[in-house]
Formats: sequence, structure tokens, C-alpha cells
Amino acid sequence: MSSVGTAAPGHRSIAVFSSARRHGNTGQFIDFVAGELGIETIDLASVALSPFDYEHRNRHDGFEPLMRHVLDHDQLVFASPVYWYTVTATMKLFLDRLSDYLDLPDLLDEGRRLRGKHAYIVCTSICEEPPASFISTFVDTFEYLGMRYGGYAHANCEHGYVPARHQAGAVALIQRIRSGHGEHAA
Ligand SMILES: Cc1cc2nc3c(=O)[nH]c(=O)nc-3n(C[C@H](O)[C@H](O)[C@H](O)COP(=O)(O)O)c2cc1C
Repeated sequence: MSSVGTAAPGHRSIAVFSSARRHGNTGQFIDFVAGELGIETIDLASVALSPFDYEHRNRHDGFEPLMRHVLDHDQLVFASPVYWYTVTATMKLFLDRLSDYLDLPDLLDEGRRLRGKHAYIVCTSICEEPPASFISTFVDTFEYLGMRYGGYAHANCEHGYVPARHQAGAVALIQRIRSGHGEHAA
């Protein structure tokens, strides 16, 4: 389900990644960020995730085990390409399922552990900047959940993923994650 590096002491971080391909532009970009930080990357494609269900008939799937693991970390790095101005369908499904932790009485205490966690975004598109709709999908959700947004790293992959160019653009975010800063308006 994941690739694991050596976790940095202090601010324990984890990356939650989604793309239609594991080793495409976003996959290579998050692998660089996670590799520099020595953190684990969870590929949502490898987790059995069902869509949100008002009746919660999906509690047997892989979401709660995944969340137990994710909640054990202080800093969450979300990685997704821009697909039609927003996050991938699977990443959106993951965000939708966070509602379980607001709805289900036995998950409320666990859900409150999201508060105060630092959250960052790693993304790729074919534009100079990610669309506001993409960023706000994450940032508005972080705000609602009481998480502390720490900024994003974006790679314009109009001409493919170019490590020398794109990795340099991620260094500032990597430094922020290393130092555990959560407040940033980028
Ligand atoms: C279904 C789909 C929708 C896309 N929508 C957008 C978009 O709205 N804006 C944009 O800049 N790029 C868009 N792209 C381009 C991707 O964001 C870009 O190629 C990205 O680097 C792909 O990352 P991946 O290799 O991880 O899939 C889209 C690509 C796909 C496949």
C-alpha cells in the first residue's frame, strides 16, 4: 500500500497520494518530496475505498484502517494532479469519507484528532499555477476540520515532469514541512 522512508523525528508526517497512474507526474513529484523528508506515501489506489454512504454500509472497507494510520501522524501531505479543475475522484472520495469521522458517534473522538494537524498540498497540472478551485477543495476542507494549512508545491507538467525544474520548486515546501510550520497562505 505504501512506500516508506525513515521518518523524521519530531513532526511525524505522511503523504496521501492519488493519481490515475502511480509513477506519472504527480507520483514522481511526491516521491521526490517524500524521499527528501523520509516519509511514507500512501497510494489511495491501493486501498479499498467505497464512496460516502449516508447509511454507513461501507464500514468494512479500507477507510477506517487507513485513517487509524493517518491519524497517527502530525503532518499530512496531500498529493493529487489537477483533473478538471479539482482533485482526483479518488482523493475527493477520501475527503468525502472524512464525513464519517464527523457523523459516526464512535468515530467522533478519533475525528477530533484532525484538529491542529498541519496539512500541505503537492500537485501537478499543465498550467503555471493550480486553479483556485483545486486549492480551495483542500484548503476549505482543512479549515472546516480545524487543520493548519502550510502551503503547496506545484509542478507545471505541460512538457512532462522535469526533475531539475520541478524538484527545485518543491524545496521551499519541504523546508516548511521539515520545520513543522502550519500557517501559510500560498
Ligand atoms: C482527466 C484529466 C483532467 C485534467 N484536467 C486538467 C485541468 O483541469 N487543468 C490542468 O491544468 N491540467 C489538467 N490535466 C492535466 C494534468 O493535471 C497533468 O497532466 C498532471 O501532471 C497529470 O498528473 P498524473 O501524471 O499524476 O496524472 C488533466 C489531466 C487529466 C488526465
